[in-house]
Formats: sequence, C-alpha cells, structure tokens
Amino acid sequence: MRGSPIGIICHGGAGTINDKQAAAEGLEEAIGQSYRLLRQSADAMQAVVAAVRIMEDNPVFNCGTGSNLTVEGRAEMDAAVMTQDGRFGGVCCITDVKNPILVAEKVMTETDHLLLCGSGAVSFAHKLGFEEFDVITERSRRRLEKLRQDGKSPYFPKLEKMMNSGTVGAVAIDKHVKLAVATSSGGITGRLPGRIGDSAIMGAGTYAGPSGAVSCTGHGELVIKMMLAKDIVERMKTLPASIAVTLGLSEAKRKKGMCGAVGFDARGGLCFGHTTKDMAYGYMVADRLFMFTKGKKG
Ligand code: GLY
Repeated sequence: MRGSPIGIICHGGAGTINDKQAAAEGLEEAIGQSYRLLRQSADAMQAVVAAVRIMEDNPVFNCGTGSNLTVEGRAEMDAAVMTQDGRFGGVCCITDVKNPILVAEKVMTETDHLLLCGSGAVSFAHKLGFEEFDVITERSRRRLEKLRQDGKSPYFPKLEKMMNSGTVGAVAIDKHVKLAVATSSGGITGRLPGRIGDSAIMGAGTYAGPSGAVSCTGHGELVIKMMLAKDIVERMKTLPASIAVTLGLSEAKRKKGMCGAVGFDARGGLCFGHTTKDMAYGYMVADRLFMFTKGKKG
C-alpha cells in the first residue's frame, strides 16, 4: 500500500432509501469527521465509533434517534464494536439511551463480557452515566402506524415493505494499518419485542479479524444465519476485499437475502456491495471522498 493507509467506509443501510440527499449528507458528515480523526492519529476504533455516533444522532438513519419501533411501539436498539485483534462489545435491545454504540464500546472496555441485552444493558449504561434519552421520533411512529393501517401481519410476511432499514456501520483502517468496525441498528419496524437483529451479533452484522473487518446491513435473520460479516472476512484470507464481498453477497442473493456490506481487508483494500435496490454508503481514502446512495447490486 502506497502513501497514507488511513481510510473509512460507512453505510447508512440497505433497502429503499427514501431521502437520498439527506442520507448522503449524513454519511458525508460522519465520514468527514471520522477521517479527520484518523488524520489526527486517532485509532481505528475511535474513528468508527465517532462515525456511528454521528449517524445515531441523525434521525434520517435507523439507529439511535429515529430508530424503527417494535410492534408495541418501543425503540429497542442493537449495536456492536470489534477490533481486528478480537476485542468485542455489544448491546442488544437497549432502550432509552442516545448512543448505543458508546455503550457497546464500554461493554468492550469496561467489562469481561461481550454482549449485554435489554434491561441489563440499560442499567449498565445508566450506571456509567449515560443519561436517559427518548430516541423515538414522529417519523418512526408514523412508520409503525402505516404498517398497522395496512392491516396485515405485522411481522415478516411484510418484510419487503419494511426494508427501509437504514442500519448504519463503519469500518476504518488507521495509520498503524489496524482495523475496527462498528454497527448500530434500530431494527425492523413492527418486529416482535425482544427480537435481536444481526448488528450486535459477532460474525453476523459485525466482524473483524486478522484478514479484514466488515459491517453488514439488511435482513438481520438472514445475515445471522449466514454469519455474513465473518463469511466475507474469512474469504479475505485469500482474496481481495472486493471479490470477497461479491462472493459473500452472491450467496446471500441466492438465498433471496436482502442485505449489504462494507469493509476493508488487512492490506487496505476496501469493499462494498448490496443485494437490495439501494444502499447508502461512502468512503474516504487518500484524502478523497466517494459517495454513493445507489450503485451496482451485489
Ligand atoms: N440489520 C438490522 C436488523 O435486521 O435488525
């Protein structure tokens, strides 16, 4: 790899993007700020957490503020972080905090555990000083209301209509050529309470290992079954990132999975792809920003 190895790639979710400009602006802000941190010698973990935190605070994305609601109208969120050397922290079905990704990072740095869920995750966050925060927006309420008005089964038979998922993720490579990944999601509108998606499951929506790091988005159940992030990272052992992601997503497509992924391999090769109509994503390498809200299907 020539020149500065640093880089950041982010996605703002696979599915149908209703407001492409807002998604692009939100991604650009997250990528720009995170890249600046990398330029100032931040490590890859600091960079991905910063990027995801910015997207969690932006109601255009389905994570943190603006998260999709369960069938009972609650915002139960999933988030996780992982480093290339195997450190991991995650929260599942966490409620009433502004930034699940910061709590996930604390699970990694402050506990001997990997994953906290539900009320345990909430009380851990509050004990650490994270304030109570209502992430529910009018827009997320309207999405649930619309689903209810359609009068069909509120759960997976309607999955295609629910694919405005907007889960976010970031993968960074720092100046020491170390990788980290962070993913955060508000889940799928109208899901059952207590449902856990792929974002906080190690190997499913979030994975980093010696050969690379990947964040996934899309239909969580399929992504978990495929262990999609790990599948792609494993392929990076012998293949460039771009081919690894294409092969991983081809398998997802064969299973009719609606999903997408972004990542870096350990040599600094980046990758992105999706099987859905759209995916919002962008990256910055060698001081150049590239933005996509729609692209070639994986
Ligand atoms: N990919 C996010 C979810 O299924 O919850």
